[in-house]
Amino acid sequence: MNILAIESSCDETSAAVLSNGQLLSNVIAAQLIHEQYGGVVPELASRAHQQHILPVVERALTDANIPKNALSAVAFTRGPGLLGSLLVGASFAKALALGLNIPLIEVNHMQAHVLAHFIENPAPAFPFLCLTVSGGHTQIVLVRSPLDMEVIGQTQDDAVGEAFDKSAKLLNLPYPGGPLIDRYAKDGNSLAYRFPLGEMPGLDYSFSGIKTAILYFLRDRTSTNPAFISENIADICASIQHTLVQMLLIKLKRASRETGIKEIAIAGGVSANSGLRTALTQLGTELGWNVYIPRFEYCTDNAAMIAKAAQFKFEQGDFTSQEVSPLPRMAM
Ligand code: KG4
Ligand code: ZN
Repeated sequence: MNILAIESSCDETSAAVLSNGQLLSNVIAAQLIHEQYGGVVPELASRAHQQHILPVVERALTDANIPKNALSAVAFTRGPGLLGSLLVGASFAKALALGLNIPLIEVNHMQAHVLAHFIENPAPAFPFLCLTVSGGHTQIVLVRSPLDMEVIGQTQDDAVGEAFDKSAKLLNLPYPGGPLIDRYAKDGNSLAYRFPLGEMPGLDYSFSGIKTAILYFLRDRTSTNPAFISENIADICASIQHTLVQMLLIKLKRASRETGIKEIAIAGGVSANSGLRTALTQLGTELGWNVYIPRFEYCTDNAAMIAKAAQFKFEQGDFTSQEVSPLPRMAM
């Protein structure tokens, strides 16, 4: 069974080949063009996907040493994501499946982030909890089986990745600022400044309050010392990161307590954050959790996770018709 998978939901064009459950290639073309605009520009993203998709797919097939006519199915991200970006991957996948006369498999991008844990061993045992944290989502997912997932907590406003990126913007750092906050935080004191943790009920999150708190904090400090940010960048980043990580873990702890589940995973772009990885590992030791953290390349958007999700669907004969269109707000 050889699956070619395509991911194009946001600003990464990616293709991967999975053969009998083994990943043979995973090619990712990032779009650096958005940096100068301080965020992803949808129109530019779809144009860049259009330019990248053919070379990326060809490269994935070459790297895997699998010819097109040996493919068993073509998988693509149906949603959630940017419509124009999703359309490029969906159209390409449909055309390829049609031309080769093989099945088409649609994949939910958020399910795929969770299933990235099955690309390599050890994988979490079912049922497990997955904290999925990206630029567009913040969810606590109860995973009963590969394709049976329930969102039991989520953000009511900004995603945590957005909170990282918007905080970075306030610090005059380029987009995407999350990884830069992470880098500066390594040399800073995480208790130098305090920001509110917020008080959302239950397992839900809210990240809009902290963004405002940081805005006022910086306005205050720079009014008396214009060089405040540059002089204290490490401490500021460490404090912001510490607050966001604490917010994430408070609800994850509560979810584990309420469900009695101690198999705990993280996924999505923000799971690349070293502060989160360290804090979660420590918490896991303290609370007797089995913690699963994906390799860096499977945290941010990639087609390997799409291929892995597609494998589970292929095994169940869950194929997609040529009529489907992308779903920018696709639910779990
Ligand atoms: O999953 P992803 O690649 O794309 C989406 O589906 O959104 O996540 C991208 C997000 C961005 O907000 C980016 O700043 C954040 O993940 N991110 C990080 C780190 N690496 C990526 N945030 C904090 N620390 C990092 N090391
Ligand atoms: Zn993603």
